[in-house]
Amino acid sequence: MTKERVLTGITTSGTPHLGNYVGAIRPAIAAARNPDVDAYLFLADYHALIKCHDPEQVATSSREIAATWLALGLDPAATHFYRQSDIPEITELCWILCCSAAKGLMNRAHAYKAAVQANEESGADPDFAVTMGLFSYPVLMAADILIFQGAKVPVGRDQIQHVEMARDIAQRFNHNYAPLFTLPEAVVDDNVAVLQGLDGRKMSKSYGNTIPLFGTEKQLQKAINKIKTNLLEPGDPKETEGSTLFQIWCAFADADERAAMAQAFAGGIAWGEAKKQLFERVNDELSPARAQYERLMAAPEEVEAILQAGAARVRPEATELLAKVRSAVGLRPFA
Ligand code: TRP
Repeated sequence: MTKERVLTGITTSGTPHLGNYVGAIRPAIAAARNPDVDAYLFLADYHALIKCHDPEQVATSSREIAATWLALGLDPAATHFYRQSDIPEITELCWILCCSAAKGLMNRAHAYKAAVQANEESGADPDFAVTMGLFSYPVLMAADILIFQGAKVPVGRDQIQHVEMARDIAQRFNHNYAPLFTLPEAVVDDNVAVLQGLDGRKMSKSYGNTIPLFGTEKQLQKAINKIKTNLLEPGDPKETEGSTLFQIWCAFADADERAAMAQAFAGGIAWGEAKKQLFERVNDELSPARAQYERLMAAPEEVEAILQAGAARVRPEATELLAKVRSAVGLRPFA
């Protein structure tokens, strides 16, 4: 049986938080362990440049994210783990695709439309702070996917449109030039929890309501203590429905532990006690990885070597496909 090729990228802007862990990292590492899957996981650092113009932050975030995935058990020997900017073929393909991707298609991209709408609402020029990077970002994403013939692309809901655009761009190229690209398909896992943040909204860096994944134990405890609850006293029965604390508990607990916590809620567990138990549960799951993370953050040369090896392993494939693409569009040696 040929393995299914599953490819996904992680934009390297920001420090990973518990929501990233539960919603993206943990399921992706589990999926990469499936022997029927040929996994391509990469650090989307060219994408980071779209959102982040602070070089130190771009560099630091890349290091943190690489260390995070490795610390959490991503096996670089069993998966393809690489950094986008180590594969220059991606940007070359991006340009070639730009020359056949329709501008009208890009006009419809949610991220771009949201930026324009925000400008219009604030009375600014519609193009204010809209870079060509933001505008053409779906083409770069198409290049990421198509260069390695990604068939299944696990993404969050907000990214489905981009994968559909990649498919559209691939189809157009295959039709106009030569059938070189596999048509990708987005995969959205409905079972994966979208974690609530401290204030009960979706946990997100942009809301400032996150719990950092690999802070110190103290920081984890402090953050968990800040989870919003209500004024019910110890002894008062508490609702699990809508409780952020319970929701985060469920993302870490097995079926028995969920049932036990639901019962404790009904029995009037004090918020302080529930938080203490949540801290212990999350901390137990994260502590071994935290130690590993700290070790890797202190050993950048080790992480660099892993990424270099990852790039060396996948790059020949990119070179080979790009040679065909160049030839198909008419960029050919004279003799
Ligand atoms: N744009 C994606 C995000 O923000 C990350 C990403 C970049 C990606 N390139 C990709 C995801 C290719 C899947 C395939 O989440």
